[in-house]
Amino acid sequence: MPNAPSQPPPTAAHDGRRGVPPVPPDLFRPLAAALPTGVCVVTSLGVSGAPAGMTSGAVCSLSCEPPLMLVCMGKESHTLAAVLVHGAFCVNVLAADATALSRRFSRQGPDKFTGVAWRPAHNGTPVLTEGTVAYVSCELLRTVDGGDHTVAIGLVVEGDHRPGTAPLLYHRRRYAGFPPEPEEPLSAPDQPDPPGP
Ligand SMILES: Cc1cc2nc3c(=O)[nH]c(=O)nc-3n(C[C@H](O)[C@H](O)[C@H](O)COP(=O)(O)O)c2cc1C
Repeated sequence: MPNAPSQPPPTAAHDGRRGVPPVPPDLFRPLAAALPTGVCVVTSLGVSGAPAGMTSGAVCSLSCEPPLMLVCMGKESHTLAAVLVHGAFCVNVLAADATALSRRFSRQGPDKFTGVAWRPAHNGTPVLTEGTVAYVSCELLRTVDGGDHTVAIGLVVEGDHRPGTAPLLYHRRRYAGFPPEPEEPLSAPDQPDPPGP
């Protein structure tokens, strides 16, 4: 009988971690905080139809065709519970002057939407109408387990954006914005001066 095609030996490399233990949380937290992100408010509707929302940095566009977004939500999050009930969510991308909205939606509590301007998207998910550069409304396609978080993947069904509006950024637990644009375009140092009169 001919030899069967050789299979790679079942080494520890196949356990996904090469047998090396993960870094401890005390090291992982500052590593994660070193990743700069945008700041979004992910919204949905709870069982009673009340709006729910949370500040979220772990948001990513996932696919162009089909158009998919993903958001990562702590398993204890009330907004995650609402997303699972309603089967849809909206990613509201905050503008540079919207730190107050970010702080408000990073709290726990039932009154987060009091005094906040919003309207429903076609699927009912709350679209914040002030303090944002864009919104992306999604139908929940599936969830994936992500340790102490759940990854929610959504099909993008609606959205809009405001070109020219600066976004809010977040890095090492501090808010930031884009540096101001230089008034004149910088010339590359190794380029000869353009011919003049
Ligand atoms: C800038 C910033 C980004 C955050 N990003 C996330 C995130 O991606 N996922 C998450 O689960 N919590 C994130 N949080 C924390 C949640 O906003 C916070 O736990 C919130 O209270 C959850 O509210 P909820 O339980 O009403 O959903 C972030 C907080 C801040 C300030």
